[in-house]
Amino acid sequence: MEVVARREVLRDLCDDAREAGRTVGFVPTMGYLHEGHLSLVRRARRENETEVVSIFVNPLQFGPGEDLVTYPRDLDRDLAVLKEEEADLVFTPAAEEMYPSGEALVTVDPGELGQRLEGAARPGHFRGVCTVVAKLFGIVGPCRAYFGEKDAQQLAVVRSMVRELAMPVTVLGCETVREADGLAMSSRNVALSAEERQAALCLSEALFAARDLAREGERDGHVLRAEMAKRIGAEPLARIDYVAAVDERTFDEIDALEGPARALVAARVGGTRLIDNVRIA
Ligand code: PAJ
Repeated sequence: MEVVARREVLRDLCDDAREAGRTVGFVPTMGYLHEGHLSLVRRARRENETEVVSIFVNPLQFGPGEDLVTYPRDLDRDLAVLKEEEADLVFTPAAEEMYPSGEALVTVDPGELGQRLEGAARPGHFRGVCTVVAKLFGIVGPCRAYFGEKDAQQLAVVRSMVRELAMPVTVLGCETVREADGLAMSSRNVALSAEERQAALCLSEALFAARDLAREGERDGHVLRAEMAKRIGAEPLARIDYVAAVDERTFDEIDALEGPARALVAARVGGTRLIDNVRIA
């Protein structure tokens, strides 16, 4: 495993791999790796000859007052874990390597899809995500890139960026990995107290309840949203940011369930903001 901090070095190594006829699998992360990340890492490993993992806590996707400073970090542990997983290349750039002018002079506008839900709750978030992912794709070059459904809107925004900007990247979505009790794995879970950790279950429970209703034949988006709001609302430690039931492709809120659809929730549990989602049809 090679740890690379400079973009030119990573670009050369990825070019070399492709010239040798190897496909490149790429997993972008912000580190503090858990089993959710590792499911992406393992799939990229299985499906490609050369595997690249990036670890970079991207300041541009955090808003003022968000958790950029307290975002959990443990590079030594991450590198040990990735060595165990037999990753080939790990990219660990400093902020100046990704933003050489000290700020983002050119950014990627995610379009309308980036303004809704997470985009509305965190203005500028998807612009930050698209900008850093576009830079990473520019450095890694043609590859298969793996993203988690845990961040379903991010996955949709990245797919849309790749399509619209004709990037030579195949984006692959990977299922959400959960704790045994249903909580979606997240680097942010470490910030929850024992009591908050228990309260945080209201997110996945609300989503599963909406999915069950849909399976039983409920077609009304308003009823599904009301059920999720009721469940999260009943948890005193949780404060809802949004509950949504959307068309899987457009992320438009649905009135009546017809095609493929997804339920999404965002809530603050204590001081920690959590998101989760499930396919409901
Ligand atoms: P991060 O939150 O570290 O997540 C990295 C990747 O792991 C994302 O594609 C995310 O969806 C996936 N992931 C996280 N938790 C998961 C889980 N429980 N199950 C399955 N996949 C999971 O997402 C980011 O970083 C950043 O926005 C990034 C894309 C790296 C750009 O900075």
